[in-house]
Amino acid sequence: MEERHKKSKVVKEKTIGDLIFFGHKELINKASSRIEAEMLLSYVTKQNKLSLYQNWLNKVDRSSEFRYKQLLKKRAKGVPLSYLTNKREFFALSFFVNHHTLIPRHETEILVEETIAQIKKYPIQPVKLIEIGTGSGAISIALAYHCSDILIDALDISEKALEVAKENARNHHLLHRIHFFQSDLFSKVPEQRQYHFVVSNPPYIPNEQIPSLSKEVLSEPKIALDGGKDGLEVIRSLIHQSKQYLVPGGCLVFEIGYQQKQSALKLMKESGFTNLFAKDDLSGIPRIIGGFLLS
Ligand SMILES: C[S@@+](CC[C@H](N)C(=O)[O-])C[C@H]1O[C@@H](n2cnc3c(N)ncnc32)[C@H](O)[C@@H]1O
Repeated sequence: MEERHKKSKVVKEKTIGDLIFFGHKELINKASSRIEAEMLLSYVTKQNKLSLYQNWLNKVDRSSEFRYKQLLKKRAKGVPLSYLTNKREFFALSFFVNHHTLIPRHETEILVEETIAQIKKYPIQPVKLIEIGTGSGAISIALAYHCSDILIDALDISEKALEVAKENARNHHLLHRIHFFQSDLFSKVPEQRQYHFVVSNPPYIPNEQIPSLSKEVLSEPKIALDGGKDGLEVIRSLIHQSKQYLVPGGCLVFEIGYQQKQSALKLMKESGFTNLFAKDDLSGIPRIIGGFLLS
C-alpha cells in the first residue's frame, strides 16, 4: 500500500517537456507563448534554455511546478514577463527590473547606438554626459560599458527607480563611473555644471491615450509614460532646461513617441539647436531626435 502510494506520487510529477507544453497552451494568446513558457520554466528551475532541452524528460519537483504555474497565471493576466523574472536584456547586457522601473525597450537601443556614434565623433574627450530619467539605468550603464572614459551623471524623479539603477550599475561593476541622484529634471543639478551631452528617453505618451494602453504597459510606472496633454510636456522642459547645462556645441539627444518628430524638431530649432538629426527604429518609425547647441 505504502509503495503504491509512493508510486502514484512519482507518476504525478511532470517532465520539463510536459511543463513547457502546458505553459505554451496556457499562454496561447501571447505572440511568443512557447518562448515565454520556456523563459518562466528556466527562471523557476534555474537552468538555461539549452539545459531545459537537454533534460527534456527529467522530472520537475512539485514545488517548482507549483511556482511555475503561479507565474503562468500572472503572465496570462498581463503581468509583463520581465516583472515576473526581474530580468531584461538591453544592448546585450542583463538588467534587474521591477515594477518601479520602465522595462527598457529594444527601440531605445537606437538611442544608445546613436549616442555612442555622436560621442565617438565629438571633438572633446572625455565626454561629460547627463541622462535625464534613467529608470533601471540601462542607457547610462550601456554607455559607460562601451565608452570607457565617459563621465556620467544619471538622475530620475523616482527614488525607487534609482535604487534599481544603482543595483544594476553595481552588478556591471560600473557604480564608481556613474553618479546617480534624485531630481525633477535639472532642478537638483548645480547651476554651474556643464555637459557635452544630455541624453533622455523621457515620458512621451499623451495622457488621454494612457487608459487605452495594453494591460502590460499599464503595469509600468505612470510617471515613466505620461508626457502630459500632448505627450510633449516633459520634452519641452527637457529642451528648454538642457540649454543652460550644455556647453556651446553640446549635443541633446532623446527618444520621441509616435508622430512627434516634426513637433520635436520644431521645438529644438526654436530653442537654438542646430545640425538637427533624426533616426527611425527598425519599423521605420521616427524614434530619436538630436541636435547641437549653437556655439
Ligand atoms: C520612459 S522612462 C525611461 C527609463 C529608462 N531611461 C529607459 O529608457 O528604460 C522615463 C523615466 O523618466 C523618469 N521621469 C519622469 N519624469 C521625470 C522628471 N520630471 N524628472 C526626472 N525623471 C523623470 C521616470 O521615473 C522614468 O524612469
